[in-house]
Amino acid sequence: MAKKPIILGIETSCDETAVSLIQDDKSGIPKILSNIVSSQFDIHKEFGGVVPELAARSHVEKIDIIAKKAIQESGVSLDKVSAIAATMGPGLIVCLTVGLNFGKAMASSLNLPFIGVNHLEGHALSPKLNSKIEYPYLLLLISGGHSQYLSVNSLGKYKRLGTTIDDALGEAFDKTAKLLGIEFPGGPKLEKFSEQGDPNKFELPKPIINKGGCNLSFAGLKTAILRITKTIKTEQDKFDLAASFQKTIEEILYIKTKIAFDEFKKINSQDKNSFIVAGGVAANKGIREKLIKVSKENNFKPIFPDLKLCGDNAAMIAMVGLEKFKAKQFDNLDLPANPRLVLDESAKFLKGAGVKL
Ligand code: KG4
Ligand code: ZN
Repeated sequence: MAKKPIILGIETSCDETAVSLIQDDKSGIPKILSNIVSSQFDIHKEFGGVVPELAARSHVEKIDIIAKKAIQESGVSLDKVSAIAATMGPGLIVCLTVGLNFGKAMASSLNLPFIGVNHLEGHALSPKLNSKIEYPYLLLLISGGHSQYLSVNSLGKYKRLGTTIDDALGEAFDKTAKLLGIEFPGGPKLEKFSEQGDPNKFELPKPIINKGGCNLSFAGLKTAILRITKTIKTEQDKFDLAASFQKTIEEILYIKTKIAFDEFKKINSQDKNSFIVAGGVAANKGIREKLIKVSKENNFKPIFPDLKLCGDNAAMIAMVGLEKFKAKQFDNLDLPANPRLVLDESAKFLKGAGVKL
């Protein structure tokens, strides 16, 4: 029997230093041998956002230790590793370079193939670490930097159906949280706040809800929330505003997802359709429930990554590495980091004032 490939993945695109080892499995779902993620929340929280230079310095200090820990925990000796995969973009250039160079050095010294990975493709394939999924599928990627609907046709083949024209959804959560006095990154805590509030207390806008297909827009919500925060007085008002925000987001995603289903069906004609939701915001329970509901109503099978694989991690980078390894898609050691890497190069740029939908 041919030996099952083992991939070591590295992720340092933003504020998580992560290394993971995964192994292919005949079940079709690879085994996670180790998955170490070291977050930098404490370093950045006083600044209300990620400071690139501090993030990069922390990656440099930690990458070696995290890699050793991941290798140790996997129980695998380095001579059993088949390839090294590292995030090449998108992300902060100073941060990407740390993991990418570390990965190249490992590959070179161990004489192993090297694979550069698109971080967004990592999120896109992350549910493959707990579910068997066939191409093509519809993907909703909702993270701190991206919000997109994509038709995932095969490895590396993406067609964007819709994108945010301003803020990403995670960004909208974090900005709203900040206005409510919740420290960065506020998304998860904002969700907790919302559980104690009245979702019908405040009426919030749903930008471009009746136009622009399945494109998204969240900046108008932030403006409305800023206005309301100036009038609220009690702690309960904050909970109510959080609940109203959460409900509005759920409603926007419900409506836009229905449109995305139709657009996906126009270009894909199989009987059974899967809908994958990935990225940090996919951890939000209310959003999950709403997206399960709209999927069932429209005959799509909803699939989510494990909660621990929604946020940035290296197991998802190793997952892309594994698929590329099987397809023999290797990279040279002079592969540059690309902070602006996208999934669908043919998609139009849709951000900024005056954008035509
Ligand atoms: O995918 P991710 O870890 O990093 C990026 O690639 O951006 O996503 C991080 C984003 C942050 O904006 C964070 O606040 C948000 O995901 N997030 C959530 C929740 N958990 C994480 N937003 C809403 N509800 C959550 N439970
Ligand atoms: Zn991410």
